[in-house]
Amino acid sequence: MRIVLRIGGSIIGSPINVDLIKQYATLLKNLKAKGHEVAAVVGGGDLAREFITNARSLGLDEKAQDELAISVSRVFAQLFLEKLEGMSCEAVPLTVDDASKCLQKGKVAVMGGLKPGMTTDTVAALLAEKVNADLLIKATNQEGVYDKDPKKHADAVKLDHISFEALSDVFTEDKHKAGIRQIIDPEAVKTLKRKRVKMIVVNGFKPENVLAAVRGERVGTVID
Ligand code: UTP
Repeated sequence: MRIVLRIGGSIIGSPINVDLIKQYATLLKNLKAKGHEVAAVVGGGDLAREFITNARSLGLDEKAQDELAISVSRVFAQLFLEKLEGMSCEAVPLTVDDASKCLQKGKVAVMGGLKPGMTTDTVAALLAEKVNADLLIKATNQEGVYDKDPKKHADAVKLDHISFEALSDVFTEDKHKAGIRQIIDPEAVKTLKRKRVKMIVVNGFKPENVLAAVRGERVGTVID
């Protein structure tokens, strides 16, 4: 299978969790050893948000705030790349084309952000579209997608499955703002819907959930 794994900065970087980073590096190696093609997209987590807040206090505009967050996400990608040694490409790909080339060389591609005005969810979706991925897995800080925001509603129910079409009903924000946090970026959903790339959202604090999703076991929320 060709897999794009979106690793939430909320998982590995809020605060920086060396143990989980190690587990994800091993997971990427294992997926590769099983014959899968894998690309990962990592976000910048709390550190990115800290830069966004500080940039805002300095009077810098949204674009500058985004650029700083992108730089932070790329530092996280570099951390993976160093840890994966020869298994990954030499540098963090700055475009989906470069990430695709890295995959074609049989390497594990690990990238961060792409450009202002989006989130790494959209980067992962664009990459999945570019490489014709079979599956996009989002490792996040919730068990999956809920029928309403679980942080605000105690009676929110986790969905096992939802269609791309129905997903728009659970979104609260649909305009980009630096540092925005939502279960999935609506822009990413639009891209995935175009190509009908299947996405599975899992609790990323347990990396074994990612393996379960790859094996087709019932975990998280399947979106198709
Ligand atoms: P994300 O919200 O995608 O990263 O990007 P994250 O930390 O992994 O988030 P969780 O774990 O899903 O909650 C953080 C910020 O970086 C900027 C945006 O401001 C975004 O909100 N960014 C990221 C861009 O501007 N462009 C990109 O391509 C990626």
